[in-house]
Amino acid sequence: MTVTQMFDKKPESQEGPRSLHDDFPESDAVPGQGPTKNTGNQPAFFSCWDIHAYYGESYIVQGVSFDVREGEIVALLGRNGAGKTSTLRAIARVDDPSLKSGEIWLDHQPLHGMKSFQASQCGVGLVPEDRRIIAGLTVEENLKLAQIAPPVGWSIDRVYDLFPRLGERRKQEGTTLSGGEQQMLAIGRTLARDVKLLLLDEPYEGLAPVIVQEIERTLEQIKALGMTTIIVEQNAIAALHLADRAIILDMGQVVFDGTAQDVLDDADMRQQYLAI
Ligand SMILES: Nc1ncnc2c1ncn2[C@@H]1O[C@H](COP(=O)(O)OP(=O)(O)OP(=O)(O)O)[C@@H](O)[C@H]1O
Ligand SMILES: [Mg+2]
Repeated sequence: MTVTQMFDKKPESQEGPRSLHDDFPESDAVPGQGPTKNTGNQPAFFSCWDIHAYYGESYIVQGVSFDVREGEIVALLGRNGAGKTSTLRAIARVDDPSLKSGEIWLDHQPLHGMKSFQASQCGVGLVPEDRRIIAGLTVEENLKLAQIAPPVGWSIDRVYDLFPRLGERRKQEGTTLSGGEQQMLAIGRTLARDVKLLLLDEPYEGLAPVIVQEIERTLEQIKALGMTTIIVEQNAIAALHLADRAIILDMGQVVFDGTAQDVLDDADMRQQYLAI
């Protein structure tokens, strides 16, 4: 069976994926409460439980469940097309893929019934793979735009302290920055909002090794501040060195949930699911 056929396959269960609204009545999704189920013993800071998401008819995220503790960095790994970006987008409540069932909780807030702007207000900060720097605006204007509506996070000066290159280029148009600088701006712009969960989609993609190292050092600093983070990266070894835990996806399902060190130590698993 090809990957595409696998994704197109309907779920095994007779009932199929359940409708969010049928299955999760209001009383089960009250702000201040927590998920009805999760993968650990305690309600986690972030938890997604049995999420199913589709692009049209294509069934992509197939019952993904995992938790993230406060301050933890989790590497979400898997081969091309495994469903990593789709999972991040579902968590950030972007319209596509559409979440058909499952629960997503962040700091006692149910995200699964929300739109992306509401999830953002609740502290989800997605740094997308394509960085989305706004054309025609300077570095500083890109940062200010992030703060146009509450909740405001880091001050712009604090972003410049973390990324001095951005401070030096504050008057430069954002889209004329180098790839690495644009990645810094994309991360800085997200931190300029009040973020509780940072979602990084391939932050090292297309960057020279020396720039990757520079961004890695910054992510270490962000980690030291206790920012709860999910990082998706093709450069799995780099992500595993940064992360506390790893989740491996294959064909839209979780096939491993454990420590980053376990993945580093298991060459067979890396070969099977990450091809490294
Ligand atoms: N907008 C879309 N419409 C239809 N199918 C999509 C769409 N975006 C992604 N897919 C499909 O969903 C599956 C998972 O894609 P996704 O981008 O989540 O994978 P990924 O793990 O992030 O892969 P990569 O490592 O290449 O970034 C793939 O089969 C992909 O073709
Ligand atoms: Mg992707």
